Amino acid sequence: MSLFDSVTQAPADPILSITEAFKADSNPDKINLSVGVFVNDSGVTPILETVHESEKRLAASNTTKSYLPITGSPKYASLTQRLCFGEELADSFSGRIVTAQTPGGTGALRVAADFIKGNLNTNSAWLSNPTWANHKGIFATAGLETKVYSYFDAKSLRLDYPAFLESIKAIPSGDVVILHACCHNPTGADLSPKQWDEVAGIASEKGWIPLLDFAYQGFGSDIEEDAYAPRAFAKAGLPLFVCQSFSKNLGLYQDRVGALHIVVGSEDESKRVASQVKIAIRTNYSNPPAHGGAIVETILADSDLRTRWVKEVDDMRTRIHEVRHQFVTALADAGVSQDFSFLIDQKGMFSFTGLTKEQAITLRNEHSIYIVDSGRINVAGITSHNLSRLVSVLKDILG
Ligand code: LMR
Repeated sequence: MSLFDSVTQAPADPILSITEAFKADSNPDKINLSVGVFVNDSGVTPILETVHESEKRLAASNTTKSYLPITGSPKYASLTQRLCFGEELADSFSGRIVTAQTPGGTGALRVAADFIKGNLNTNSAWLSNPTWANHKGIFATAGLETKVYSYFDAKSLRLDYPAFLESIKAIPSGDVVILHACCHNPTGADLSPKQWDEVAGIASEKGWIPLLDFAYQGFGSDIEEDAYAPRAFAKAGLPLFVCQSFSKNLGLYQDRVGALHIVVGSEDESKRVASQVKIAIRTNYSNPPAHGGAIVETILADSDLRTRWVKEVDDMRTRIHEVRHQFVTALADAGVSQDFSFLIDQKGMFSFTGLTKEQAITLRNEHSIYIVDSGRINVAGITSHNLSRLVSVLKDILG
């Protein structure tokens, strides 16, 4: 008998385990379209020039590795609020946005979930169908009951806006609704500004609480346009949670850099909310790692670095957009009968291809092409080197 006889085998992570399998594959022609990581046309996830530059500056000026405050650097809070809400709105909400620097967007989601469970009068978190594979685990582990609202039509592989509206209109007051601010993960199907305004109106009327997962700012349309949703909800005067990530738009995946912003109604509320957010953090990871946040701070605070960074984000987005076109054209040219034009309208790194779990397994086991079992692909993983093999395998599988 061992103490650990009672421990059962947990299922592998549906996204990260695919990358582990990819790494273990010795096929030189293997293709990884699973995890949401940007790669350039050479198949490399680059360190941004502006990140290099700010790391050099930090190495020259850093004097200490002492702890940050529980909610992180106040300067980071102010700069990330401004990036999320824009200068004007951030100023008008001064003292009413509680911000915590967090280990990645995932850290922000978990702190938000713990805060909601411990302090708000709700037990339900609503997730889009489908959603990022980790959402359910994060909110369920915090003790919330997870429910789903309609979002995507699996037949047309497009947003089902009428079904979505009907679904969110039925969500009870006080429940938390997790929405993807831009570049919906896993479908790439986003709401238009007009639709966001309508959704903010529904949240206001029904009294449910919006929580925006904001991990891809700049990968959809541009840095400013992609921030439409948090700004629309804030302008509507709603209490709001935003979970921001800098993994993708600064390429800081392994540095784990994010922020939780909570928009509240008054300075008094802000003090009480901040005190409880601190408890959620202190009892979890105590205070955030500093390095990645210092990089973000350096870039956002320096107008030259910031302008260069915006251009780097524009270049990443342009590459993804071009790859979408090349992929759709190559599929059509190869004679694949299915119409994949929906891929062109989708935003960000991901698309739902409609490929089945069986087809995903065949791609993996027989062709060393790694996609998530749900049929999600990371379009950014397609390069001029792997495009023709990918298309020819898909032609065989889809006919
Ligand atoms: C993804 O969806 O692939 C990314 O957000 C990475 C992750 O942690 O799952």
